[in-house]
Amino acid sequence: MDNTAELKLNGKTFTLPTLEGTEQERAVDVSQLRAQSGYITLDDGYGNTGSCKSKITFIDGDAGILRYRGIPIEVLAEKSSFIEVAHLLINGKLPTSAELTRFSNLLTENELLHEDMKFHFEGFPTSSHPMAILSSMINAVSCFYPELLSGDPKQHFEVESARLLSQVRTIAAFAFRKSRGLPINYPKPALKYTANFLHMMFSNPYQEYALDPVVVRALDLIFLLHADHEQNCSTATVRMVASSKANMFASCAAGVCALWGPLHGGANQAVLEMLDEIHASGDDGSKFINAAKDKKSGKKLMGFGHRVYKNYDPRAKIIKQACDDVLSKLQISDPLLDIANKLEHAALHDSYFVERKLYPNVDFYSGIIMRALKIPTEMFTVIFAIGRMPGWIANYREVMEDNSGRIYRPRQVYVGPVNQTYVPIKERK
Ligand code: CMC
Repeated sequence: MDNTAELKLNGKTFTLPTLEGTEQERAVDVSQLRAQSGYITLDDGYGNTGSCKSKITFIDGDAGILRYRGIPIEVLAEKSSFIEVAHLLINGKLPTSAELTRFSNLLTENELLHEDMKFHFEGFPTSSHPMAILSSMINAVSCFYPELLSGDPKQHFEVESARLLSQVRTIAAFAFRKSRGLPINYPKPALKYTANFLHMMFSNPYQEYALDPVVVRALDLIFLLHADHEQNCSTATVRMVASSKANMFASCAAGVCALWGPLHGGANQAVLEMLDEIHASGDDGSKFINAAKDKKSGKKLMGFGHRVYKNYDPRAKIIKQACDDVLSKLQISDPLLDIANKLEHAALHDSYFVERKLYPNVDFYSGIIMRALKIPTEMFTVIFAIGRMPGWIANYREVMEDNSGRIYRPRQVYVGPVNQTYVPIKERK
């Protein structure tokens, strides 16, 4: 294959190198184009821009393929656990038994927040959204461990990443308890990652939370399915911040902020709110679908569509099956699930959605499963953030370890006013 491309601009031909990834994705390298021709490339929303080379996650959106470090998501969902997958993403390999024990022990050793951090939770109003608390408190963790922020970040990476991965769930549970005016629960070293999180969320001083293996497994699966998703909005944000050599906590706190929006991680909360709205109005979903097709309505079918998947989101398939299993095992009948099923069926047969290749994404079913697990709606996006932490850390690591990496700094095409004069305030109209 010829590994160059030619571009003609104003009668001049420019030769640009091309490259191919390990899964035959091809790219034209335009990094020298401006220096050679004076032109930049414009790609609103980055739909066709490769911002980096990465070895972590592969997606083929047309074929509905998602692999972490080369391993299909379906296989990991069936055979693995969130913590094993976190090791895979962060360290690039599945752990041996000894490595897994070491990794788990490190998480346990680092699960407690600095005691003084408790006072910070007191300062937030009870109405605070837990995503605001989560991003603020992740950033605040670094203040308590200044030794981690000096010197070469590679030297501190192992303990720093364990601290972040472990403490994100402690912070999330504390934020929830605070929002309900409930006393906080300290983590229990004997419990595994996901069980420990459920204990911190739901135990009470007068009653320990009874751990149900069905619930623990379902939540672990949700974490696992969200663990990475290549260059999405929040991960690209983490890499952007990391490229300035900001620390891991600052980079990942920025990722939490990016995830919060309803077009990204906030969609799981928005799906449940949409289903509630449809249910309360007595609609069977058809009126809402018509509104979602009308751009003037300002409505969208939340949980549908994806920038990359133009086929079924493979995570949605797994989570739909898990959702059916959990609801039947816990003997829950949920009218919102009936509405979701009707919406899915109607949308998959409607020409508007078919022509635009809009399929259900992971958020369409994750909200229903979390509701069945009694996770409050405002915590849905926080659960996504806990799950995504290994992916953010792995991406932070890739940027941090790339000694030749440059700061991320896109260009723009300026379309504002040209060379204006400064008018003194008295003369302004
Ligand atoms: N409902 C109705 N119309 C839609 C929807 C939807 N959910 N999604 C896209 N469209 C339409 C869109 O209006 C456009 O129509 P037209 O060609 O007539 O202008 C067409 O489909 C193409 O959409 P787009 O806006 O160019 O797609 P995008 O790649 O910019 O946006 C998306 C992707 C996920 C933001 C969008 O599909 C969306 O807003 N979906 C609902 C929110 C959602 O579920 N987000 C979670 C994504 S999965 C979790 C994650 O990885 O973050």
